[in-house]
Formats: sequence, C-alpha cells, structure tokens
Amino acid sequence: MFRDLFVTKPVLSAAEEAASGEVTLRRALTARHLIMLGIGAVIGAGIFVLTGQAAAVHAGPAVVLSFVFAGVACAFAGLCYAEFASMLPVSGSAYSYSYATLGEFVAWFIGWMLVLEYLFAASTVAVGWSGYLNSLLVDYNLALPAALSSAPLTLVGGSFQLTGAIINLPAVLIVAAISCLCYVGITQSAFVNSIVVAIKLVVILMFVGFSLRYVDPANWHPFIPAAQGDGHFGWDGVFRGASVVFFAYIGFDAVSTAAQECKNPQRDMPIGILGSLVVCTILYIIVSGVLTGMLPYLQLNTAHPVTTALDAYPSLRWLKEIVAIGAIAGLSSVILVMLMGQPRIFYTMSRDGLLPKLFGKVHPKFQTPYVGTVIVGIVAATLAGLFPIGVLGDLVSMGTLLAFATVCVGVLVLRYSRPDLARPFRVPAVWVICPLGALACLFLFGRSFIDNWKWMSAWIALGLLVYFLYGYRNSRLRRR
Ligand code: ALA
Repeated sequence: MFRDLFVTKPVLSAAEEAASGEVTLRRALTARHLIMLGIGAVIGAGIFVLTGQAAAVHAGPAVVLSFVFAGVACAFAGLCYAEFASMLPVSGSAYSYSYATLGEFVAWFIGWMLVLEYLFAASTVAVGWSGYLNSLLVDYNLALPAALSSAPLTLVGGSFQLTGAIINLPAVLIVAAISCLCYVGITQSAFVNSIVVAIKLVVILMFVGFSLRYVDPANWHPFIPAAQGDGHFGWDGVFRGASVVFFAYIGFDAVSTAAQECKNPQRDMPIGILGSLVVCTILYIIVSGVLTGMLPYLQLNTAHPVTTALDAYPSLRWLKEIVAIGAIAGLSSVILVMLMGQPRIFYTMSRDGLLPKLFGKVHPKFQTPYVGTVIVGIVAATLAGLFPIGVLGDLVSMGTLLAFATVCVGVLVLRYSRPDLARPFRVPAVWVICPLGALACLFLFGRSFIDNWKWMSAWIALGLLVYFLYGYRNSRLRRR
C-alpha cells in the first residue's frame, strides 16, 4: 500500500497529450490574456486592504522590504511554475506537477491545499468586496443593514460565535454572478477580466501619479522602527509583514490552470506567469512606498488604507471614489480568476479518478467544466455568506505556501528523474533557486500562522478522509 501511495503519473509531452485525444477544453488564450489573468488574480485585497495593517502593526515604512521579500519568494516559486507549466500544459497546476514527480498521495494533498488557495480565496476576497461596496454605498446613504452585509459567524478565542447578522448578501451575490460568467466560457471570462484589470491598473496608476507630490520623506524615518517583540517592528516585523503581504501575491500561479486552454502553452505560460508577477511586484513596491510616504505608518491601520491616505489631503479627496471603484473592480477580477481556476483543478483530479466523474464533465456547447463550476460557486458563496475574512485569509496563505514549496521541490525531482524531457523554459541555477524557494515559503508558513493550526489540521483530516474513501479506490492510474 505504501508504494501505491507514491505512484507517479507518467509525464506526457505536449504533443503526446494532444495526440491522446483527451484535450477537450477550448484553446483560445494568448500570452496577453495570460498576463491579464495573472494580474487579475493577484492585485486585490492584498494591496487595497492588508498593506496598511502590515505597515502599522509589523514593518513600518519597511513594509516595502516585506513586499520585496515576499516577492522574491514568489519569484522563485514563479520560475518553478513556469518550468512546469511550459513542460506539462495541463489544467491541474501544482496538483498535476506533484502527481508527475512526488506521487499520488502528495498530489492529492496539494490538490486539497489548492482548494484553500482558490475556492477559499474567492470567498475571502468576496467578503472584502462586500466591505468596499458597502463603504461606497454609505457615501450615498444606500448602505445595506449590517444583518445583510456582514458575517453571521465570528471567531472569538478560537471558537465560532454568532454575531446576530443573517448573511453577507453582497458577498454571496458577487460569487453567484461571477460563477455564471465562468459557466458560459473561458473567452468571455478572459474578456471581462481584461476590462476589469485595465480599470484597476488605471486607478492604481492615478493614485500613484496624483499622490506622489504629497509624499514626505520624513515619514520614512525611521525606515525600520525599533523592534518591540512578537513580530512588531525591527527585522522580525519585516518578515512578519512579509507573511501578511504574501496574500497580495497569491494568484499568479492561477495562470497555470489555464494551460489547457492556451494556444501556445510552451511559449506563453512562462510569459504569463512571470510577466504578471513582475508587473505586480513593481506596483506593490511603488504603492506601499507612496502610502507610507503620505502618512505616518501608524495611521494606516484601517480597512481602506488607500482611501485613508487620500482623505488626509483635501485636494486629493476627489480620487477617493475612483479608488474605491477601482478596488471593487480589482477584487472582482481576483474572484473571477479564482473561480475559473478551482473547477479546472477539480476537472483534472476527476479525470485522474481522484474525484467523482461529475467534476470532469465538460459542457457540450460552452466547453467549460460546468458541473464543477456550479458546485464550486455554491460552496464559495456559502463560505462567503457565513464566515469572516480573517480565518479564511490565513488558511488561503497557508495552503498556498505549501503548494509553492512543493512545486519548488518537484522541479528538482523531475530534473533528476527525467532529465530527458523537453523543457521550453528552464529555471536558471536550479540547484540554488529551487531549494531557496522552498525554504522561503516554508519559513513564511512556519513563521506566522501558528494560531490557525487547529483549522488547518481539521482541513487536512477531512482531505485524508475523502482520499481514502474515494480517491485511493478509484485512482485511474492505480487501476490501470
Ligand atoms: N492576491 C489576491 C489579493 O490580494 C488574492 O486579493
């Protein structure tokens, strides 16, 4: 049985994959679509919400360094994703890469972690979306009552309690609306995504452009405030800040879930993954630098740090609503890409026999994994309607860090076990980059989320149950 658990799926070249006749999703995406998908998935709650908290509580103006550190860890992981995605153009992302290298059990584990990254992230960001929408509606006296716009459950002292609210309705509705779009088609989804991404990029550039002259370099001193212990300031705070803003980078790997719908995955996958990562890293460093330059860092600990900074300067107040609209657009595209990615990972797992067949059903007209899309939509909407943002967000980061570390290890394993495979993109200095990437992700994982181990363990236990009750018995590879 032990050997069974580590059976690996043979790696087919792109040509073999195409010749197998199994590819049924529509190949419609180009490098431009992929970069837009990446930016769509990445820029969201991280920059619009978490930057302020990371600066005010953990890193001070050195939150810029936190972004650099988290960005370097993601760049290493991104290079590894690029190598895999160009070599294995399948829609299962880290799940498929682990199946080819580290065996079925690890692949299942990572697939299960990716549910945290995609499905839970869609719910997390939907909750943030609801908050931004309400803050905009307040200005027009149209705010929804709290009972219909906040979570009915909250976490107090490690256990959930009722808040008196009924449901977070806007969060449910945005997930439902975006799920409908994903049901209809990848091209339509990519098209809407491109428009939304353009809006959020323009808004961010407007913020930087108009705010730059209000930056006071005095606010950057001391750049790294004196350490106060327990992740508050000093170098320790910089790293703790990195684990908070890591959330902001999550999503560039979602590009790899569209590999089977990409016209030329060998060439375009690395461009999509690394291109979106570079654009987002540059924007994050600039935005966090401008924010901490506009206001003393201690004043940035709000739910809307960008609008808080604008509020401080009367001549910039006209930008506030535009930024809020940009944030709402930005968060929508994150939800869209996450809701597109999750059914495609389930689709691949189902075709491997590890999940029931209905997840592998492709719509005859739209050529989308429609049953999976509906199921994911219902679960994501339920989570978004019931739970608060904090726990969901931490679980997203934990699951993603584990997936990234595994991909870094997987690249090394496959270089060793299958040096013969054609690799259109190769990680440079692989024996340095891969171990460093894995260590950096594990460092951030171990550093920050100790409080959530209880929930993480419950999630892992549920995953093991599903695997041994269903996946282990139905695995196509083992039955073969
Ligand atoms: N990176 C995404 C965000 O910040 C998940 O919203």
